[in-house]
Amino acid sequence: MPDPKPLGVFDSGVGGLSVLREIRRLLPREDIIYYADSAFCPYGARLPAEIVSRSLKICDFLLGQGSKALVVACNTASVAGLDIYRRKFDVPIVGMEPAVKPATAATRNGKVGVLATSVTLSGDRFSSLLERYQNGADVYSQPCPGLVELVESGRHDSPEAVDMLKKYLAPLLERGVDTVVLGCTHYPFLKDTVKAIVGSGVAVIDTGEAVARQVCRVVAGTGLENPGGRKGSEVFHTSGDPGEVGAVIKKLWGGDPTIIHTPL
Ligand code: DGL
Repeated sequence: MPDPKPLGVFDSGVGGLSVLREIRRLLPREDIIYYADSAFCPYGARLPAEIVSRSLKICDFLLGQGSKALVVACNTASVAGLDIYRRKFDVPIVGMEPAVKPATAATRNGKVGVLATSVTLSGDRFSSLLERYQNGADVYSQPCPGLVELVESGRHDSPEAVDMLKKYLAPLLERGVDTVVLGCTHYPFLKDTVKAIVGSGVAVIDTGEAVARQVCRVVAGTGLENPGGRKGSEVFHTSGDPGEVGAVIKKLWGGDPTIIHTPL
């Protein structure tokens, strides 16, 4: 049965908008409720147990709003507890993981760099990804404290962001990587800067589109797609300051988004 209920999507903040834009491109008719946990961002600086507890609260909220499926548009929250969310809730839940598999398949010289939060890179889920898909390649992990905060404050295109990225990319470039994975949903907003620093000989990969394709498969495969002929809507909730978060969402998403302050 086609289902007009919304999709629920969340992230620690505005990073998940990089996934949302791909979902919107592939599923133009779905209504979407997005939760930005800005008051608790960055998740990368928190303990996994705390991230799981926040994520469970947010899933509960999104389901209370009638969501028919959930998207954890955050690598850190997925690594911290995707299996826990799936066991607890009875709707399809799509999560994310850094694009190690496509990167080790694409590298020509067998050297791959992964930019992500420390929680993502130290999680069991990431170790298991490496075990399954390292494929003989050398995979160099690079945590990037501070980058998420720059995106959250609308400074993704600032000179500060360029300097920080140069610092984090330098060790990867010294090792000669030809492929860089953006393993955090905030980083696609820095993709042009990353590309300019690494140059045209290095491929830069993120997972937004692959996740959106998976959301499509879940929605269509379970007959949950919205039957309506109209364009889908987006409503944004945040635990942070709605004025500040709204200004950044407006900058990254465009238009005149509806932002609701929803502390959880
Ligand atoms: N955007 C998130 C991710 O994909 C979380 C970043 C953070 O809050 O540290 O990992």
